[in-house]
Amino acid sequence: MKIAIVYYSQTGNTKKVADLIAEGAKKTQNVDVKCMSIEEIDTEFLVEAKAVIFGSPTIAGTFAWQLKQWLDTNRNIGGKLGAVFATAKFVGGGAEVAELSLIAELLVKGMMVYSSGAAEGQPFIHYGAVCIQDGDEGQKERARIFGERIANKAVELFK
Ligand SMILES: Cc1cc2nc3c(=O)[nH]c(=O)nc-3n(C[C@H](O)[C@H](O)[C@H](O)COP(=O)(O)O)c2cc1C
Repeated sequence: MKIAIVYYSQTGNTKKVADLIAEGAKKTQNVDVKCMSIEEIDTEFLVEAKAVIFGSPTIAGTFAWQLKQWLDTNRNIGGKLGAVFATAKFVGGGAEVAELSLIAELLVKGMMVYSSGAAEGQPFIHYGAVCIQDGDEGQKERARIFGERIANKAVELFK
């Protein structure tokens, strides 16, 4: 089963977190995980993916307009499992607003949104993984765990 991680990254932090999420997702058996910047989309892989995890830097308290533009012009992600993550410069800088705004976009597209929430216990991941810049070790591990949880859910739903 294919899982795509689609991100926008200007200075590399969000890309690094995408790689961590991919590392976690790859712990799940029978998944093929691919990270792709919105500037280098593997369309065939994305079409076949059952789950798509979107990531953005927090820009002025929400997600990047570049990703919004990409979403506005790519409509074929309905019916897939969707999840989000964000990077930010500081705690309280709006990463969760960025995630919720992104989640609203995914709902409009008809995706089934999942974060793992509190249902999986510790560490709680309410809306999606968050890393300050590219994250300290604790944040990095949460990003890996997030990836694994999304992959497990995708396998559960679509196997
Ligand atoms: C124009 C601009 C606006 C930003 N606004 C915020 C913000 O509102 N809150 C925040 O925490 N970080 C903000 N940041 C910092 C980025 O979210 C953070 O550095 C992020 O990790 C960058 O990701 P990237 O390296 O993938 O581009 C801003 C950065 C830029 C360039």
